[in-house]
Amino acid sequence: MNQRRELPDWEQLYQEKDVESMPWFNPDLDPDLDQALTQLKLHSSTALDLGTGPGTQAIALAQRGFQVTATDLSTTAIQKAQRVAQEKGLDISWKQDDILNSTLNQEFDFVLDRGCFHVFPPERRPDYMQVVVNLIKPQGYLFLKCFSHLETRPEGPYRFTPDEIKEIFGGQFNVLSVKETVYHGTLSPLPRALFCILQKS
Ligand SMILES: C[S@@+](CC[C@H](N)C(=O)[O-])C[C@H]1O[C@@H](n2cnc3c(N)ncnc32)[C@H](O)[C@@H]1O
Repeated sequence: MNQRRELPDWEQLYQEKDVESMPWFNPDLDPDLDQALTQLKLHSSTALDLGTGPGTQAIALAQRGFQVTATDLSTTAIQKAQRVAQEKGLDISWKQDDILNSTLNQEFDFVLDRGCFHVFPPERRPDYMQVVVNLIKPQGYLFLKCFSHLETRPEGPYRFTPDEIKEIFGGQFNVLSVKETVYHGTLSPLPRALFCILQKS
């Protein structure tokens, strides 16, 4: 699981490519997130979509009545997503922000991380944890989607076993569930993924 992974220059990628061509592009709300929101009866809460990229999840959440803030390292990703949201008449707070060195100073009912955490090498995970835990209200949730150890493509982000998720997040969060699933996007077959529901202790 700890093999070193080559990851793109995110800003360059969003400048050069259409978001619709990106492997993680999913125009609809992620089905695992959808199910979790229903299960936990979360409506109209405050949400942070961190590493929002194309912004599809932020947009889908705003359409369902959540008050959404969406951030990404890439300024171009934020600009492109903001344009789409404006065309749809949605009010979302868009910000360029590096989650490893964040300037956010708000607490949210939940944070969605769909594919951001899994791009960070092991030595940056403590920095991530320190920031993210402070962005969630007490008893609030972190919904995490990351590649699973069952994914066998040689390229792509870091992969995790359910036990590794429990080990990494278990100190700061109650690990409510870790489900084997897929990462909905443009690849075929869809990459194997984990969807984790973590509650701030
Ligand atoms: C795999 S993509 C997922 C995009 C989006 N969450 C989705 O599901 O469509 C990972 C995203 O994380 C962003 N990212 C990478 N490093 C980041 C950082 N340090 N802070 C914030 N965002 C970052 C990238 O720019 C990219 O948009």
